[in-house]
Amino acid sequence: MARPLLVIANWKMYKTAREAADYIERFIPLVQGCKAKLFLAVPFTSIAPTARYAKTMAIQVGAQNMHDAREGAFTGEIAALMLKEAGASFVLLGHSERRHLFHESDELIHRKVVRALQDDVLPVLCVGETRTERDAGEMESVLERQISSALEGIATEEAARVIIAYEPVWAIGTGIPATAPLVGQAHHACRHILTKLLGKSPAQRIPILYGGSVQPDNAGELSAEKDVDGVLVGGASLDPEKISQIVWALEAGCPTPKKRKRTLDTEPT
Ligand code: PGA
Repeated sequence: MARPLLVIANWKMYKTAREAADYIERFIPLVQGCKAKLFLAVPFTSIAPTARYAKTMAIQVGAQNMHDAREGAFTGEIAALMLKEAGASFVLLGHSERRHLFHESDELIHRKVVRALQDDVLPVLCVGETRTERDAGEMESVLERQISSALEGIATEEAARVIIAYEPVWAIGTGIPATAPLVGQAHHACRHILTKLLGKSPAQRIPILYGGSVQPDNAGELSAEKDVDGVLVGGASLDPEKISQIVWALEAGCPTPKKRKRTLDTEPT
C-alpha cells in the first residue's frame, strides 16, 4: 500500500502572526524540492496569514484544537467551519496536552473527530500512553481504547481519512524520544487496531506518525521503521532550520519505496 511521508509541525502556543510570516519566509526555501507532505499546526491567529504564504509550496496549514459543535453559545471556542474558512485543512485532536491539561475525555475527542470529518477538516488523532501505563504493560490497551473510541460508529470510508499520531506522553517535550524499535512496535499495534476496526485495505491507507522529542538526529532511523509514515514535531519545529533538517533526514533515512512499499508523491500537496 502506497503511503506518502508526512511531517507535521506543532507550534503549540508559540509565534504571533508576524513571527509566523517570518518563519514561513525562512522555511519555504529550506524545504524546496522535498517530497514529504508538510503540515503546519499553528495558533488560530496565524492560520490565515500562514495559509496565504504556504499556498505557494502547497504546505497544509491547520489548527491544534476545535470545539465539537458546529456553532453555539460557547464563549471563547472555535468551530471547524471557522478554521476551514480561515485556511485550515486539518486539525490536531486529542493531543496529550489537551487530554491531560484540559481534561479532554475519549468521548469528547470522538465528538470532535466526527465534527471535523463532517465539516471537512482532516482530523489528526493523537494517541499515546503515559509512563505509568507503559510500565504497567498497558500500551496496547490504551491505544486500542483511544483509537476505537475516537472512531466509534464512523463509516469506514470516513474513518479511513484520519491521520493517527502516536505520541507517548513520556516522550513529549522531554528530550527522551522513544527508540526506533519501540516506535515500530507501537505503530504495528496501531495498524493492527485499525485493521480490526476498519478492515485491512482502509487501515493500510491511514498514515501513522510518531511524535515525541523528534530531532534531526533521530528522525532518519524512525522513518526506516515499517509502519512509521512520518513525524509530528513540537519543540524542534519552532526553528525552520531544525524542522527542515528533520524533513531531509526522514527522506534520506527512508529506504526505497519498493522496499518500504511506499511511494513518495512528487507533488507535496
Ligand atoms: P515535542 O512535542 O516534539 O516537543 O516532544 C511533540 C508534540 O507535542 O506534538
